[in-house]
Amino acid sequence: MKNSLIIILLFLCSTSFSQQTPPGYIRLGDPAPDFTAETTQGTVKFHEWLGNSWGILFSHPSDFTPVCTTELGAVAKLAGAFARMNVKVIALSVDSIASHRRWIKDINETQHTTVNFPLIADPKFEVANLYGMVHPNAMEKATVRSVFIIAPDKKVKLTLTYPASTGRNFEEILRVVESLQLTAKYSVATPANWMHGNDVIIVPSVKDEDIPGKFPKGHTTVRPYLRTTPQPNL
Ligand code: BEZ
Repeated sequence: MKNSLIIILLFLCSTSFSQQTPPGYIRLGDPAPDFTAETTQGTVKFHEWLGNSWGILFSHPSDFTPVCTTELGAVAKLAGAFARMNVKVIALSVDSIASHRRWIKDINETQHTTVNFPLIADPKFEVANLYGMVHPNAMEKATVRSVFIIAPDKKVKLTLTYPASTGRNFEEILRVVESLQLTAKYSVATPANWMHGNDVIIVPSVKDEDIPGKFPKGHTTVRPYLRTTPQPNL
């Protein structure tokens, strides 16, 4: 009797564990793991710091490296666009705060900008491991170039992993945020290579008869499953 009880308990525990996301393995729709970390702008409690904003968390292999220097400069130059879209950005590198501060001075000088977002110091790889930013077969002791877009409900909406040698295109990341914000508000999706101002796709769950009420700007039926309409929020 006692043995069967133990077996049942073990089974229940293993089932409930198997349904949880293991640390470092983050899939779309998962809650973004919360953390507290030291940054160049003081201690950040991640979820509290995000508040009702969208968030972009992105990692770098290390301080004082050329590609990373250009990336942080590029993000700093997009500060106005991020603010208009209600997006807070936060970068991570496993080096120390002192190193980050020296590096930011360099970035400002060489990229002709002002880094105005926090840079997490993660010397123990705590946040890096929580978010699966270390890919040991690519780089053993550094984070790869990860990006996570997080919605105001703290759910992960995009994950992206680039190799150390390829700088990311932050205009593309902004484009995804705009698409996500649009699709969160309207029953639309965005087609291949969509850019701000282009027509969007009416999602298949909208019935033909409901289109005029939902999309008063008009629509085009290319195929019954492919219906487009002008971007609704312009
Ligand atoms: C860079 O940021 O420039 C870089 C970092 C690690 C490996 C290669 C390039």
